Order: sequence, then C-alpha cells, then structure tokens
Amino acid sequence: MKLGVNIDHIATLRNARGMNNPSLLRALKICEKSKIDTLTIHLREDRRHINDKDLRQLKKNSKLPINLEMALTDEMIKIAKKIKPNFICLVPEKRNEITTEGGLNLEKISKKKLKLLLTICNSNNIQLSVFINPRKKNIEIVKSFGIHAVELHTGPLDRNKVNKLDIKKINEMINYCYKKNLIVNIGHGLNFSNIKYIKNRHKVDTVHIGHFIISEAIFLSLPKVIKIFKSLIKL
Ligand code: PXP
Repeated sequence: MKLGVNIDHIATLRNARGMNNPSLLRALKICEKSKIDTLTIHLREDRRHINDKDLRQLKKNSKLPINLEMALTDEMIKIAKKIKPNFICLVPEKRNEITTEGGLNLEKISKKKLKLLLTICNSNNIQLSVFINPRKKNIEIVKSFGIHAVELHTGPLDRNKVNKLDIKKINEMINYCYKKNLIVNIGHGLNFSNIKYIKNRHKVDTVHIGHFIISEAIFLSLPKVIKIFKSLIKL
C-alpha cells in the first residue's frame, strides 16, 4: 500500500495570513525527501485552499506524481486538460461543506462530462478514479463507465467508537474491487488508530491521507520549533 499525502491544509494555513508561509513548495520538498508516493491536492471551485497558481507550480516542480481531486465541472475539465496531472480523483463538491462529505452519486453525474474527461485522461496517460462509498452497486457502475480505479471512502472509520459493520464493509469492498480488477485506493478520515482496520493492504494501491498527517505534524514538531526559538532568544 502506497502513501499519498494531501497538502491542502498547508494552503489553508498559508491563506490565513495571505503571504507565502507555510510554503507549498517547501512542503513538496519535504514530501519528496520523505519518499511519499503521491502528492494530492484538491482544487475546489471556491479555491478555499489550493489555488490555480499552486497547482501550476506544484506540477512544474514536483518529482512526485500529482493526484488532482476535482469536481466534474467544465472548468475543472479544462484545467485538467491543461495541467495534465498524473492522477485525477473525481469527488463530489458542495460549496458549504467543510470537507468532502461522502462518495459521488454516480447515478447523477453528467455522463457527457465524464466521457469527455475519460477521453482526455486516456489520451494523456492520466489515471482517473472516482471517490465512492464502499458499495457493490457503486463498484458495478464504475466498471460500466470504463473507469479502472476507485477511491473507497473510509470516513466512517473516523469515529470514537468505530462500527464493526463499517470495518467489514470497507474490507469486503476492497476485496470486491480487487477481484473485479479495479485499482483500489482508500482515503478520508484515516489516522494512526484506525488504519489498523484495513486488512487487505496488499490489495490497496494507495491510501490518501490529509488532515491527520498535517495536524499530527504540528504536534510532533512543535517541541523542536520551540527549542530552536528558545535558543535564539537566550541572552
Ligand atoms: N480522499 C479524498 C477523495 C478526499 O476528498 C480527502 C479529503 O480532501 C482525502 C482523501 C483525505 O481525507 P483526510 O483529510 O480526512 O485525510
């Protein structure tokens, strides 16, 4: 199982001050040095964290494959065609949501837009996946669209008391996708405690983690930063 790290939250922190700190390119270098497998960013319609310039700069400078999370809109399709990320993960997007709230409703997405995006992906060697709730019906629909990869929504594992049925469902659906020859990625709400519930790791291509890695990084490095600052202000 490979690791994809979502750095949107670094952009959120940067945007709070309107300058370039923390810098995404600096984060990129650390991610490259730490040998993660994929760098994930979500270009949202409202550009609340990652913006168009970030996307261009990261694509230009990254030695890591870029996974672009995006909604299936004309604007995003145009951007994807121009930037040509290595991976695209289609996600649902609601303007007022705090984060992605669930998998795509595959019955409602525009088949015309999907067809256009698939053509762009196929001719530019971009792997397209769709973020779905782990259900057989969704997996069958993905197959019928001619899409070869999925990202299964693991959000329900991010609870104080994790429901055994959710654990069972996600592991069964990882198996099911694998049996159906789909590339299986997983993501959302995963952390040091709940990653243990993922049983079929050799069947999972990539796990995408954002919020936990960035927030835990604050606590793991806070003592180091304080120590450096204390030495700087010593008389
Ligand atoms: N995968 C997808 C499709 C997402 O939308 C997100 C959130 O941006 C993640 C993974 C990462 O989720 P988290 O930030 O909870 O680790």
